[in-house]
Amino acid sequence: MPLATARVVTDRPARYIKQLVSHMGHKATTDLASDGRGTITVAAGTCILTPTPDRLELTATAVDLPSLAGVQDVITRHLVRFATQEELSVAWTAPVDGAALDLTAPVVDTYLLGHHTPADDILGGLAAATREATAGAAHMQVSSDEGALLTLLTRLTGARFAVEVGVFTGYSTLCIARGLADGGRVLACDVSEEWAAIGRPYWERAGVADRIDLRIAPALDTLRALGAEPVIDIAFIDADKGTYPAYYEEIVRRLRPGGLVVLDNVFLGGRVLDPAYQEEQHLAMRHLNDLIAGDDRVDSVMLPVRDGVTIARRR
Ligand SMILES: C[S@@+](CC[C@H](N)C(=O)[O-])C[C@H]1O[C@@H](n2cnc3c(N)ncnc32)[C@H](O)[C@@H]1O
Repeated sequence: MPLATARVVTDRPARYIKQLVSHMGHKATTDLASDGRGTITVAAGTCILTPTPDRLELTATAVDLPSLAGVQDVITRHLVRFATQEELSVAWTAPVDGAALDLTAPVVDTYLLGHHTPADDILGGLAAATREATAGAAHMQVSSDEGALLTLLTRLTGARFAVEVGVFTGYSTLCIARGLADGGRVLACDVSEEWAAIGRPYWERAGVADRIDLRIAPALDTLRALGAEPVIDIAFIDADKGTYPAYYEEIVRRLRPGGLVVLDNVFLGGRVLDPAYQEEQHLAMRHLNDLIAGDDRVDSVMLPVRDGVTIARRR
């Protein structure tokens, strides 16, 4: 579905949202959440209004472009009318399809893939074996640049204890295992023994199989069995998306100060930006992205790597 966003600079975002939600409540479906976010659904589509300290962020979505223009128009007119003490500039972005958002232009993508420490023959062999053995599922594997990022982050934290949620055929597991300090280990969680078995020979060839503690069980059970001590140096979450908030919570409370949690697919192929997508995984990821940005236990950044990667460091 097409969507468009606008950033409106103002020091009264919360006030405008309240005014709009209350005024439009007579002829539209409206909601004001406890975090100050407003949602207004008119016949043509929906607009989400989010307050930040110095601006009001708008995201409009509708089934087609004329309807989207209708939503943008009604919200813009009301906002401008309510702003009696300042002149608001509501400049909308060009409409995009939320399900077809490329984070990087293909040409940039190719360049990025050509400019990181290259995957060696072992990683290349595992990627090829995964394509051959898992066919359509091979896209689940992290890309070579993301794998290089994982090795780098693991080294930078001097990690001795890593956790991975979502092993698949073990490419990211291998990247993390290679970055561990001497004597380190990675607790690798997945529910599929069959997929992990494809990676094992490559873990052995790389000489890191003894650092990988594979647990075949629902990852939440494995995490909850860890005890309450802050022992995790780095964690990578790349499994069932609807459970990300629970994984994050179980992990962040066990991160040592300075430890990292890295989350993959935080854009969900662009759908996380588009309020039209309301499946459980979209709601969960949207909620988690907001939560992490405001979580005072961590410092975080969201990177436009592949399908979006968030890195959060425990304070
Ligand atoms: C996107 S893949 C992981 C890809 C992997 N990081 C890589 O680079 O190859 C997601 C994995 O999560 C696993 N998974 C799904 N639900 C799970 C759960 N409840 N507990 C543990 N693993 C789960 C799937 O079996 C699948 O292997």
